[in-house]
Amino acid sequence: MLKVKIILGSTRAGRQGDKPAQFVHTLAKERADWEVELLDLKEWDMPLAMSAKPPKSGEYDDEMTKKWAAVIGEADAYIIVTPEYNHGYPAVLKNALDRIYNEWLNKPVAFVGYGAMLGGGRAVEQLRQVAIELQMAPIREAVFVPLVWQAFDESGKPANEQLTAGAQVMFAQLTWWGEALKAAREKK
Ligand SMILES: Cc1cc2nc3c(=O)[nH]c(=O)nc-3n(C[C@H](O)[C@H](O)[C@H](O)COP(=O)(O)O)c2cc1C
Repeated sequence: MLKVKIILGSTRAGRQGDKPAQFVHTLAKERADWEVELLDLKEWDMPLAMSAKPPKSGEYDDEMTKKWAAVIGEADAYIIVTPEYNHGYPAVLKNALDRIYNEWLNKPVAFVGYGAMLGGGRAVEQLRQVAIELQMAPIREAVFVPLVWQAFDESGKPANEQLTAGAQVMFAQLTWWGEALKAAREKK
C-alpha cells in the first residue's frame, strides 16, 4: 500500500480549491493500491513563526508543527493542489512546506494546479523548484485546471473529461516513483 497525502494549499474564504481537491481525492480513493488522506491547510491553522532550530534538526517548537511532521512523515508520496496567486503559489503552502524537513525527504510529489487561463502552471513550476530543495522528486505528469470556477459541475464532475484521464496518468507515474523511492528508503 502506498500512503498518499493530498495537500490542499488554498485557505481563502469562498475558495474554489475544494473542487479540484475533491475531484482528485475522489479519484485517488478508487485506487486499491493507495491509502489516501486529504490534508486541508484551512483545518491546520499553522503559525507563521518558525521553530528556533532549523527544520533539518527535526526539533519543532509548537504542537501544530509536531503534528504536521507526524502526518507528513507517514506518507510515501504527495499530491499538492495549488491555486495560482500573482503567478506564484500561496504563502500558506510555503509555510507548510518550510516548517518541517526530514519528513519530505526522498519522496515524490505530484501537482494539481488551478487558476485562470493557464491553470496554475506558473505556481506549479515554482513549487517544483522548492520540492527539489526539500530533496523530493517532483514528477512530470500534472493536472492543470484553467478557469477553475467553471471547470466542475455541482456534483464535482469535471466539464473536461481529459482532466480525469490526465489525473490517472499522473497517479500511475506517482505510483512508480512512490514505490521505487519507498524501496530505496527501506534499503538504507
Ligand atoms: C490574490 C490573487 C491573485 C491571483 N493571481 C492569479 C494569477 O496570477 N494567475 C491566475 O491564473 N489566477 C490568479 N488568480 C485567480 C485565482 O486563480 C482564482 O481566484 C482561484 O479561484 C484561486 O483559488 P482559490 O479560490 O482556491 O483561492 C488570483 C486570485 C487571487 C485571490
